[in-house]
Amino acid sequence: MKIRPITPAIGAEISSVHLGEAARDAGLFAQIKAALLQYKVLFFRRQDITRAEHVAFAGRFGALETHPVAGSDPDHPGLVRIYRSDNPHSYENNYHCDGLWRPNPAMGAVLRCIECPEIGGDTIWVNMVKAYEELPEEVKRKLDGLRARASIEQSFGAVMTPEARAKLAQDHPAVEHPVVRTHPETGEKVLFVGAGFTTHFTNYSTPANVRHGIDKAPGAALLLNYLISRATIPEYQVRWSWQQGDVAVWDNRSTQHYALNDYWPAPRKMERAGIIGDIPC
Ligand code: SIN
Repeated sequence: MKIRPITPAIGAEISSVHLGEAARDAGLFAQIKAALLQYKVLFFRRQDITRAEHVAFAGRFGALETHPVAGSDPDHPGLVRIYRSDNPHSYENNYHCDGLWRPNPAMGAVLRCIECPEIGGDTIWVNMVKAYEELPEEVKRKLDGLRARASIEQSFGAVMTPEARAKLAQDHPAVEHPVVRTHPETGEKVLFVGAGFTTHFTNYSTPANVRHGIDKAPGAALLLNYLISRATIPEYQVRWSWQQGDVAVWDNRSTQHYALNDYWPAPRKMERAGIIGDIPC
């Protein structure tokens, strides 16, 4: 297995590996898992694998998720279809970690390109450990113990009828997470709020933070927007231009990603196996 780091901050391309084989070979899988913890997102060019091999490889990391809104492959329920061919609307063109709206957001994901536009449709990943590490110390102190709400309602629910949105919110109530989580395997601290699903802080309004009303709403929103904007810093990012068959594997606990929506009306078809994560703390 060959590893080529792509940026100083995040991402490596892995070559001389077939992921179907990695699904069957515990030693090879262990090398890939170690590289994932180090580089946070791994890219494998032109993987000629079946859907069964795709889910088998992803399943080595843990059980797979289903998604309440995005449809799955009928024969492989853990393989979510992200197909953009008949509608210019996208849910993925904002910085997010997958499933932040769940009590246990995904541990990671294995995404394969089925069809991509000739140009456009790249995906960006961000190292959210660096986004935390390089915060000013006084901001880090402010985040100690701070928590935030995340919800599916204001993202996937936005294009639904009010009734369907209410049902989505009832089935998947908003959750609360620490603003800074600790990675369960590396011990790294991770900035864990994102544009995709975070709505507000839940315990900001204390005497230390709020003296007058203006401290509460605009004050908290300014801080939240500042934190969310950290994901846009180019020095923390890697950007991948897809070719058919490429696979990306990412650690969803320490990264965020953004799929560019710049290719309509060309089709783009991706299949994602999301791996069930733990409760962040
Ligand atoms: C995702 O947001 O999980 C999918 C990213 C992509 O389609 O590139």
